[in-house]
Amino acid sequence: MPLRTIDSLGELAGKRVIVRCDLNVPLGDGQITDDGRIRASLPTLNSLINAGARVVVISHLGRPDGSPDAKYSLAPVAQRLSELLGKGVTFASDTVGSVARDAVNELGDGDIALLENLRFNAGETAKDAGERRAFAGELAAFGDALVSDGFGVVHRKQASVFELAEILPSAAGQLIATELEVLDRLTESPTKPYAVVLGGSKVSDKLGVIEHLLPRVDSLLIGGGMLFTFLAAKGHRVGASLLEVDQLDVVRGYLDRASELGVEIVLPTDVVVASKFGADAEHQVRPADDIEGSPWGESGLGLDIGPETAAKFAEVIRASDTVFWNGPMGVFEIPAFAAGTKAIAEALTEVTGLSVVGGGDSAAAVRALGFTDDQFGHISTGGGASLEFLEGKSLPGLEVLGWSAS
Ligand code: 3PG
Repeated sequence: MPLRTIDSLGELAGKRVIVRCDLNVPLGDGQITDDGRIRASLPTLNSLINAGARVVVISHLGRPDGSPDAKYSLAPVAQRLSELLGKGVTFASDTVGSVARDAVNELGDGDIALLENLRFNAGETAKDAGERRAFAGELAAFGDALVSDGFGVVHRKQASVFELAEILPSAAGQLIATELEVLDRLTESPTKPYAVVLGGSKVSDKLGVIEHLLPRVDSLLIGGGMLFTFLAAKGHRVGASLLEVDQLDVVRGYLDRASELGVEIVLPTDVVVASKFGADAEHQVRPADDIEGSPWGESGLGLDIGPETAAKFAEVIRASDTVFWNGPMGVFEIPAFAAGTKAIAEALTEVTGLSVVGGGDSAAAVRALGFTDDQFGHISTGGGASLEFLEGKSLPGLEVLGWSAS
C-alpha cells in the first residue's frame, strides 16, 4: 500500500501542523558538524510554511536518558534551521507543558517553532505502549495534523513516530517519499550491473542487509573493520585488527552462497596496517594475507583498505549502473587512514547510473572529506533506517502511514 501524502490532510492554512523531523545532527563542542539532516527537512517545512500552516517541529537529538540534558539540547539546531529557512524559528525550551503550549499558541499562519528534544521525556522511548501513548497524547494537543518526515527514525517504534501518527490525522512528508522512491529502486528494480559496497566496523550490523541483497547484486565489495572477519574466514591471520570470531561461520556461509549465486564478493588484497590506533601511529601497506608480517607482528592493526584494493573497488564501482554504499572503508577521521574511503567516494561520483550513499557515518564521511551532496545520486538521511529498509524489515514509522513492505 502506498504512503498517505500531505494532500490527504486537506487544507492546511491556519492549521497547526506537527512535523516529526530527524534533526539528530552530529555536534562537536556545541557546534553542528554536519547539517545534512536539517537541509533535507527544508522542502517539507518550506511547503507547509508557504501553505500558511502553523508549523510545530519535533525531533530527537542523541540518546539522553529520558530527562533534560543540556548537551543534547536542540537550541543550536533551531538557530541553524532559522538561518537555512531565512526566517525566525521560535525555540521552546521544553517539549510539552506550558512553555511549549505558549510557543505553539503564539504562532501565526506561516510561522514555525521547534520544541525541545523529544527524548528529554521518558515516554518517547518507553518500552510500555501505554506510556508512549500517554506522551503522544500530550504532543497531539499541539497539532491538528501530523506530517511525519524523520526518515532516519522510522525504524523506531517511539511515541512521536508511531503512536502520535495513530492519534492525529497523519501523512508522510517529502523527505520520506523521496527516500522510499530511491531505496525501492535498490531492492525492486536495480539497473545492472549492481554493486553494493559495505564498510563500517561490524559484520554483525550488516548481516540482514547482506542476506537480503546477495541474491540481487552482481558484486559485493567489503571494506572497513568488517573486512578482517572476512579475511579470517578465508584463513588469514589479522593481527590485532577488529575481528568478530562469533561471525566466522556466518561469513563462510556468505562466501559459499555468493559462489552458488554467481555473485562476486570482492575482498581487499592489501590493507594499511598501523602500530596502534591513533593519528601518530606508524603504518605501512601490507598484503591482505600477510598482515602480521608488518614490524608490529600480532599487535599490528588494519585501519584502512590499501591502494591496490581501492583501485580495484573503484574500477568495479565505475563499471556499475547501480551502486549502494554504506560504511567507511577505514578510520577516515584520521588523514593517514582516509584514502580508501576517499577513493570510494570519488568513484561513486563518476557513476552515470544511480549512486546512493547510505546515511549515518558514510554521509558524514563524504561531507567531511570535502564532497558535496550533488555529486551523488542520493545521500540517505537514514543510517539504521536505510539498512533496515534494505533488509526488507517491517518499519513501524512507515506502516503507521499506510506503507507495507513488499
Ligand atoms: C540515527 O541517527 O540513525 C537516527 O536519528 C536514529 O537515532 P537512534 O539510533 O538513536 O534511534
